[in-house]
Amino acid sequence: MDSMARILITSAIPYINGIKHLGNLVGSQLPADLYARFMRARGNEVMFICATDEHGTPAELAAAKAGQPVEQFCAEMHETQAEIARGFRLSFDHFGRSSSQRNHRLTQHFAGALAANGFIEEVSESQVFSIDDNRFLPDRYITGTCPNCGYDAARGDQCENCTKQLDPTDLINPRSTISGSTNLEVRETKHLYLKQRALRADIEAWIDSKTDWPVLTTSIAKKWLHDGDGLQDRGITRDLYWGVPVKKGDQPWPGMEGKVFYVWFDAPIEYIACTAEWADAHGLPDSAWQRWWRTDMGASDVRYVQFMGKDNVPFHTLSFPATIMGSREPWKLVDYIKSFNYLNYDGGQFSTSQGRGIFMDQALSILPADYWRWWLLSHAPESSDSEFTWENFQSSVNKDLADVLGNFVSRITKFCNAKYGPAIPSSGTLDDRARALIADLETRVRAYETFMEEMEVRKAAAELRAIWVAGNEYLQSAAPWTVFKTDPEAAAAIVRLSLNLVRLYAVLSEPFIPDAAATMLRDMGTDDRSWPGDIATALEALPAGHAFTVPEVLFRKITDEEREDWAQRFAGVRA
Ligand code: MF3
Ligand code: ZN
Repeated sequence: MDSMARILITSAIPYINGIKHLGNLVGSQLPADLYARFMRARGNEVMFICATDEHGTPAELAAAKAGQPVEQFCAEMHETQAEIARGFRLSFDHFGRSSSQRNHRLTQHFAGALAANGFIEEVSESQVFSIDDNRFLPDRYITGTCPNCGYDAARGDQCENCTKQLDPTDLINPRSTISGSTNLEVRETKHLYLKQRALRADIEAWIDSKTDWPVLTTSIAKKWLHDGDGLQDRGITRDLYWGVPVKKGDQPWPGMEGKVFYVWFDAPIEYIACTAEWADAHGLPDSAWQRWWRTDMGASDVRYVQFMGKDNVPFHTLSFPATIMGSREPWKLVDYIKSFNYLNYDGGQFSTSQGRGIFMDQALSILPADYWRWWLLSHAPESSDSEFTWENFQSSVNKDLADVLGNFVSRITKFCNAKYGPAIPSSGTLDDRARALIADLETRVRAYETFMEEMEVRKAAAELRAIWVAGNEYLQSAAPWTVFKTDPEAAAAIVRLSLNLVRLYAVLSEPFIPDAAATMLRDMGTDDRSWPGDIATALEALPAGHAFTVPEVLFRKITDEEREDWAQRFAGVRA
């Protein structure tokens, strides 16, 4: 990787309708944060963007359930999600809102450009109307049986079970989500359609050019492209109150009064709008965000990486690119899409609608962020779905974090403090065992960098763990506590190397466990976070005489009692 590249990173923007569970977290925000932290540590210029996805039926329905006006519900829930994101140390450069004025204007701008280029069609169509609710029932306002897989709680826009995108009129035995009423009829209403079919060749050529994309991303994109399913012309407006009002740029759109854009039309545009919100928040001119997004303003140098769960892939490989390409304006398209399978919970699925699993606020209420970050990232559902179990969580935390990393740090700092005092000892030279460790770390650190660059999250975690293990094993076999009895000078060399390893571990581990890394650096009395080049040199960063403090316990163990208690508490359904 060249130094000082510019990397734009976006995480799929979470729906505003409630607090996300750990499956959502590991499917986009957390691995995006890992990558952003790593890229910053390597000296690159990073723009890391996330926001809340505030429009559409999920927001309206959740607000209605909470008995709040939707504006107020969204404002409060945005703050809640922002607070929890801080708790998990998600290092967004900006956490925006898709309901921002920036997004209103940009969404209306894109619709106007698409219309000017002939990619918008006005269609008079049949929509399900609920007589008892006296309103149209778009998307999630309607529930029924999926015509594809038979799941009986499929929503009007998409089946949660088989991920197929649906039209409300496709559902078997449809009923109103609000009232449960089946007293429905089909009525005519006018909507805007994005003529995605006309952009099919452009999109296909673009996807075919992405030969380095991960299999999960490409296979979903191609399946949608070739089934013809994802590239139907799509309705991009809705009969809803809450959303971006339909306008053609800043002009009214005759016949579309009172309608709003479909949430999946405006949500990805928020990636761009959010970067503009970032510039506004910092009092910067438009050029500051445009250099990330406009290829005529410098964005051709940007590498743009998106993170998301697999259910989001069709929108990011087909629909959003169709919006961008159809504008015929020089906007940046994504370079690489990292997508994830699902994380399951203890023999079933995490489910927001059913309140099953562990939600982000609950997780932080029982353990600090690093414990969760480590487990989630080291078990990221990459090549297949993965499963959270309390046993596995307990054993990973206790082994990797407490027994390996935590124990290493505490053993060497305590030993040094007891025998030489709280500063790096000076005498002694490195022996063969130390040189072998350095050679091993040289290979492993380079492998770790490659996995991180390639966003191979699990492999990166496994390599980092191996790096910790190597230090632990070295310390165990070098046994300075024994050597000290006969040769305190040789023991001092072992101690000096090991204390330098603590700093190296902090730097390497920061993307995974930022709080522990900060503690380690603080206690080692350094803010030298420089990424290691040559390992032998990196292990001389803390010179003889450099003072340190013995850290508090870095990671505590999870007891069997706690594990059983938590398993019980989270077995049921969240109220
Ligand atoms: N809110 C959507 C979800 O949680 C993701 C939207 S991503 C964006 O599945 F592209 F629309 F921004
Ligand atoms: Zn289905």
